[in-house]
Amino acid sequence: MKIIVAGTGYVGLVHAAVCSEYGHEVYAYDIDADKIKAFSTGQTEKIEKYVNEPGLTNIIKETLGKYLFFTPDLNSILEGTDAIFMCLPTPPNLDGSTNLTYYNAAAENIAMTVAKRKDKRRLVFVNKSTVPIGTARHLQEIMDTHSVENFGVASNPEFLAEGTAVAQARSPDRVVVGCDNEEDFKILRRVYSQFVNHVRVKYIETTPESAEAIKYVANTLLLTYISFWNGVGAKIGEKYPNVKIDDLRLGVTADDRISTWGSSVSNGAGGSCFGKDIASLIYQMRRVNVSTKMLEASYEVNEFQKVYLIDRAITEAGFQFNNKTIAVLGLAFKKHTNDMRDASSIKVIESLLGKGVAKIKAYDPLAIETAATEFSISKNILFEKIDYFHTAKEALEGSHALFVSSDCEEFRGLSRTIEESVKPPYLVMDGRRMIADFEEMVAKGFSYLAVGAMAMKPE
Ligand code: UDX
Repeated sequence: MKIIVAGTGYVGLVHAAVCSEYGHEVYAYDIDADKIKAFSTGQTEKIEKYVNEPGLTNIIKETLGKYLFFTPDLNSILEGTDAIFMCLPTPPNLDGSTNLTYYNAAAENIAMTVAKRKDKRRLVFVNKSTVPIGTARHLQEIMDTHSVENFGVASNPEFLAEGTAVAQARSPDRVVVGCDNEEDFKILRRVYSQFVNHVRVKYIETTPESAEAIKYVANTLLLTYISFWNGVGAKIGEKYPNVKIDDLRLGVTADDRISTWGSSVSNGAGGSCFGKDIASLIYQMRRVNVSTKMLEASYEVNEFQKVYLIDRAITEAGFQFNNKTIAVLGLAFKKHTNDMRDASSIKVIESLLGKGVAKIKAYDPLAIETAATEFSISKNILFEKIDYFHTAKEALEGSHALFVSSDCEEFRGLSRTIEESVKPPYLVMDGRRMIADFEEMVAKGFSYLAVGAMAMKPE
């Protein structure tokens, strides 16, 4: 098949690469000429400056110039195309609704170009990035307005998680395809021929609107599940002296119907999808006069969770933040990424600064550069109190307390680094329950305050 992928962000680039691996002729198109130039080199460093996803560069290197091509010029690649995948950014507006500015601009531009094509073969426009229910229909209207001929619209949401996107795109649990007619289903069956009739992959054909809804319900359900553990499981562990949250998780998730994923209690879930998608679904459901209580609760628990350990530090551990130096470890929204979008660390650092801390010593194995941009002094003058370090040890030295805000594996063994770098009295706030030897640490005089458990203070 000849495929165009419009938009070479994280979703578009992974999709283009994996489709090229399956022998389709793939043209990745973007209006950002610098990006296209960088991707066309096939060089790891240049590609990873924009999208850093394990395994991605290897595929690009293998297929570049054979099956995969990058271009900023849509007109030159249009003839003979079977499907155009729309992979545009859809950021949130302040009211929670989805900002379709980039999407609409790209759709208009594509419509104008496609309207002039010479060959009139069937062409399907496929929404891949997350867009509100009804956007495929809206795309159809744009194409109709520009008198585009012989086309269909489809919704084919992606369910990839950052860090494992390539593996998941190669081996998805499901492929959801929403079309209006058999002709378009056939085209997408050929695009995804490796997954049709697959023994393990669920290949689901439905309406465009159902496909759009599937993505929102899936993401908001995942967040709600995390929020349930944070809002119920963690709270039980924090209030009942002899309830052990880790045993509670084990016991509850032993039931095959209850997922282990999402049961890790935390100082909130971040990332580019969950917060944005739940805000958008709340907005969409309000517009059709449906109660959004459930979604709101899930959203609120998640937001509350991001910073409440700081209040617990004051009330339960008796810690005073004013003029103190606090080490914050783990800045990205999760391990193995430099992505700071909606990361819990943002709220943690803002809250600490609001409590009058003198200094924040920050460390993350991958996200120091992104963090420096996120915490730019032009946004908030208080961010000048943040210093960045290349090791956890350096960040810990000279601090009065520590906040662990992400699930980087190296934090499991942190107790030793803490004991080597600082002396009690010292408070450790563990937003991810990462530190393995916390009991030994407490025995040595450190105070330990974690999500899901009561504060532990030395005798
Ligand atoms: C998520 C969905 O998993 C994916 O299907 C969708 O397409 C995009 O959104 P992603 O944002 O990459 O993917 O991250 P994910 O691994 O799901 O983690 C999201 C957040 O939840 C992270 O901050 C993570 O640390 C947190 N989390 C995850 C928890 O707090 N507890 C858990 O048990 C699991």
